[in-house]
Amino acid sequence: MNLIKKMLAAHAAVLALWAVSAQAATNDDIAARLKPVGEVCVQGEECKGIEAVAAAAGGGAKTPDDIITKHCGACHTAGVLGAPKIGDGAAWKARAGERGGLDALLKSAIAGLNAMPPMGTCADCTDADLKGAIEKMSGLK
Ligand code: HEC
Repeated sequence: MNLIKKMLAAHAAVLALWAVSAQAATNDDIAARLKPVGEVCVQGEECKGIEAVAAAAGGGAKTPDDIITKHCGACHTAGVLGAPKIGDGAAWKARAGERGGLDALLKSAIAGLNAMPPMGTCADCTDADLKGAIEKMSGLK
């Protein structure tokens, strides 16, 4: 009698494990199905969606306008979080004066500054790409 009880208990344990792993597989399936909808772009990380669009648009060399449209403009168009606005020459000039010129501003953009993530979120931009975007936004040369 005792032996049968033990066997039943063991059987129940195996069944329980099986049920748990079956549930896990189901959750994975659900996650896989939700993925295209649930995938988001996180600031400071590569955004696959945007890359796909860039590739479809021809890829290759990035113009300052491309970079500003895809990256910098998100904050610098409206001045989000205190970002100097595109075309607000006085604000940019004051910053350039404080930091020590355009190259110093470029350094801030590369390293990130307070609320601005490193590279202004354009992880695959070169220094020259960033400089071009800064020149375009600020009107500085
Ligand atoms: C997530 C928002 C955000 C994005 C995206 C962003 N910036 Fe900024 N940027 C800011 C903020 C906020 C400041 C002001 C930081 C401060 O002074 O505290 C700033 C300041 C700057 C400055 C001035 C730095 C200094 O030393 O005063 C430069 C240059 C700059 N950004 C370049 C860029 C470029 C180029 C891009 C695109 C490649 C970009 N930013 C994208 C938010 C952003």
